[in-house]
Amino acid sequence: MLTEKEKLEGLVNLGVELNHLKDLDILMERILREARRFVNADAGSIYLRDGEKLIFSYTQNDSLERKLPPGAKLIYSTFTLPIGHDSVAGFCAAAGEVLNIPDVYNLAGRAPYSFGRRFDEKTGYRSRSMLAVPLITVRNELIGVLQIINAQDDSLRIVPFTAMDEKIMLHFAATAAVALDRARLTRNIILRTIRMAGMRDPKETGAHVNRVAAYAVEIYDRWAVMKGVPRAEIEAKRDVLRMAAMVHDVGKVAISDSILKKPGKLTPEEYEIMKQHTVFGADLFRDKRSEFDDAAEDVSLNHHECWDGSGYPGILDDNGKRIRGRKGEEISLFGRIVAICDVYDALVSRRVYKEAWEESKALQIMREGSGKQFDPELIDAFFDSLDSIRQVRERYPELCD
Ligand code: C2E
Ligand code: SIN
Ligand code: SIN
Ligand code: FE
Ligand code: FE
Repeated sequence: MLTEKEKLEGLVNLGVELNHLKDLDILMERILREARRFVNADAGSIYLRDGEKLIFSYTQNDSLERKLPPGAKLIYSTFTLPIGHDSVAGFCAAAGEVLNIPDVYNLAGRAPYSFGRRFDEKTGYRSRSMLAVPLITVRNELIGVLQIINAQDDSLRIVPFTAMDEKIMLHFAATAAVALDRARLTRNIILRTIRMAGMRDPKETGAHVNRVAAYAVEIYDRWAVMKGVPRAEIEAKRDVLRMAAMVHDVGKVAISDSILKKPGKLTPEEYEIMKQHTVFGADLFRDKRSEFDDAAEDVSLNHHECWDGSGYPGILDDNGKRIRGRKGEEISLFGRIVAICDVYDALVSRRVYKEAWEESKALQIMREGSGKQFDPELIDAFFDSLDSIRQVRERYPELCD
């Protein structure tokens, strides 16, 4: 457990650290981990606001995670709650104040809200003490609710949260809200840029790029842990990878609609033009200075290379003519990862030129591509992450007309 002094020092440093992280998903992970560490809590969830609803967006649970096989992640379903009186999180959001509840199964008789046991019923977990904190930005906008569950004493017995915990979480929530707000803005700017480029049906684009980006992080995590990559490096890289993966296809802006939106198969000439999207995309980020720009250039350029050297654009001569394809580890790690994510998502989704495939058929293509189109180690990481990947599809579904 942290001492009070450590907690205060932690809070002071936190704002700086959180602002270095930019991606929303990764930020939620970090915020929840830190929040739980401060008050020694077993579990917690983050709800993000969408209009008048709260979306259950992220959760951690030490007890449940300990029961998983090594490397496996907790799988949960997202759900929404109305802001209002029906739930703890909904009430916390509506009232804009902290709720400190000793036992959510034994609410005081006059509590104006009730605790929804959906998550507990699915998982067999017993939520007891709970601190629900509204996430409110400096502009006084509610962006979500932080729910911290089951405070533990030194011998890991579940105890109520203290008044001090409440105060600490209020400070914490203020910092977290600013960082989340900024991350949401960054993600929205990326999405809006992609949409503005008008590359494809705007209904499809956001979901596709969020999915590809989220799969990429899952695969990278699996692979990196297996390789013994230090935690700090994993943390730093997954953030840039996620954002770079979102823009893997921005080079398609330079491709004419008659090719891009062609409802049928491309001719060989059209396909040659299409292949240029990798180089066009990379050009957009060249000569820029941030780690994000470097990663975005890398992913644009390398996401259609194949492990066996048969991909594109390959290594070009001074006139831009292809000499040969990049092969094996000549292809950047991020490129090899996004290649897998992009093809899997293209196969299981509807495209202007194809129907969505059954997942089993897509997985067969992925398996067959191991060592040919795809890096075999990363394909193993892909299959090992399949539960998480399916969960991503559930979080970012294709929108219907
Ligand atoms: P995309 O739709 O995002 O597809 C990405 C990659 O997924 C494709 O890269 C390919 O490797 C894989 N993929 C997609 N559909 C299939 C499929 O039915 N079978 C198999 N085995 N793999 C599939 P690729 O081929 O280099 O294409 C790059 C982009 O070019 C595609 O991105 C899409 O925007 C466009 N494109 C490719 N073929 C066609 C086509 O026949 N018609 C149209 N309109 N566009 C196409
Ligand atoms: C978002 O990504 O916009 C929040 C919802 C989610 O992460 O599921
Ligand atoms: C993008 O990936 O940047 C846009 C969506 C697509 O065309 O694949
Ligand atoms: Fe592409
Ligand atoms: Fe794509």
